Amino acid sequence: MTNKIFPGLMAAALAMLFLSGSAGMTWAAPKNVPTAKAGNCAACHGAQAVLPAGHGDTKAMTYKDCLGCHEKTGPQKLEGRIPGSHIHRLNNITCQMCHGKAKKPEAVKMKQCATCHDADKLAAQTAQVKPENPHTSPHYGTSLDCNVCHHQHEKSGNFCSQCHKFDFVVP
Ligand code: HEC
Ligand code: HEC
Ligand code: HEC
Ligand code: HEC
Ligand code: HEC
Ligand code: HEC
Repeated sequence: MTNKIFPGLMAAALAMLFLSGSAGMTWAAPKNVPTAKAGNCAACHGAQAVLPAGHGDTKAMTYKDCLGCHEKTGPQKLEGRIPGSHIHRLNNITCQMCHGKAKKPEAVKMKQCATCHDADKLAAQTAQVKPENPHTSPHYGTSLDCNVCHHQHEKSGNFCSQCHKFDFVVP
């Protein structure tokens, strides 16, 4: 009996090892290739499939081209699906424009965002967003740090949801 079960168990154990091995396998972390075009995903991601199978070639595209299909208000909007750093890069905003020339990039202060984005204008622009305008509030006015919600290198967060049930998607 044991003679028969044992090889079976071994095979199962080996199969599990194999499966967990492949499931836990991670792709090489994306590289930051400074010379890569923003739409050339493979230049930094290598063989990792960051676009669905059959997606058109994006190599030469800028954000404007993406919006041809991924319009900001439609179901295919890109907001929240690619990192902020990518949206900026697709708009020709380089690492240096946020990080300056420092050899080792450090967290970017809101002051730097404000060189391109005007907080008051932004609040006016998103006045109609439901359930509340994310860019102004009775607590913080328009002075809340952009970076508590918008992240450039990871998924953005919804700061207000600590206390409110505001379900906005943060780009
Ligand atoms: C010709 C139309 C078209 C263009 C142009 C286009 N896409 Fe797409 N994209 C699609 C379709 C269709 C899908 C699949 C449906 C979906 O996920 O929205 C998709 C899916 C994606 C996804 C997968 C989203 C997910 O959550 O799995 C990403 C990321 C993406 N596109 C990025 C881009 C970027 C970045 C650009 C511009 C450089 C771009 N696309 C240009 C049509 C397009
Ligand atoms: C729109 C502004 C912006 C752009 C463009 C940008 N970053 Fe960042 N970066 C930030 C912010 C803000 C942080 C702090 C973490 C966060 O909130 O995402 C950060 C964090 C980092 C960090 C970690 C530093 C630390 O101490 O936290 C590195 C490394 C980095 N960025 C590298 C890059 C590189 C390389 C590029 C170009 C491909 C780039 N960044 C483009 C804003 C930007
Ligand atoms: C050098 C100019 C520049 C700097 C600095 C900059 N941005 Fe941007 N940002 C842009 C441009 C250009 C766009 C694309 C046009 C637009 O949607 O306004 C953009 C787009 C965005 C978007 C919208 C993305 C979308 O899906 O529509 C967010 C959010 C954003 N920036 C946040 C930030 C934050 C946070 C910082 C500071 C860490 C920052 N930006 C620094 C120029 C800049
Ligand atoms: C409380 C979270 C939060 C904070 C803080 C915040 N934002 Fe936003 N931001 C959002 C949300 C949510 C949206 C999407 C609004 C919508 O649905 O149109 C957005 C959208 C944007 C857009 C795109 C606007 C558009 O019309 O396409 C830009 C640019 C932007 N934010 C920049 C900033 C900058 C710069 C700051 C700091 C001055 C900032 N945000 C602070 C949550 C936030
Ligand atoms: C210049 C190098 C570079 C290019 C070009 C690039 N990426 Fe990235 N990508 C990165 C890096 C680095 C990260 C890790 C987060 C960060 O630092 O912003 C990342 C992260 C991501 C993530 C989030 C991964 C996760 O696990 O959540 C997605 C999705 C993504 N990239 C999609 C794309 C798509 C789609 C394209 C092509 C349209 C693209 N990237 C082009 C360097 C790049
Ligand atoms: C630390 C908890 C906390 C955070 C974070 C927070 N709020 Fe509030 N907020 C409150 C409390 C408590 C009230 C008072 C509730 C009441 O009187 O019903 C309130 C009231 C409000 C009101 C007045 C209308 C109402 O619903 O009563 C608005 C608008 C509002 N918050 C928006 C925001 C926005 C936008 C953010 C994110 C930028 C945010 N809040 C973040 C706790 C918070």
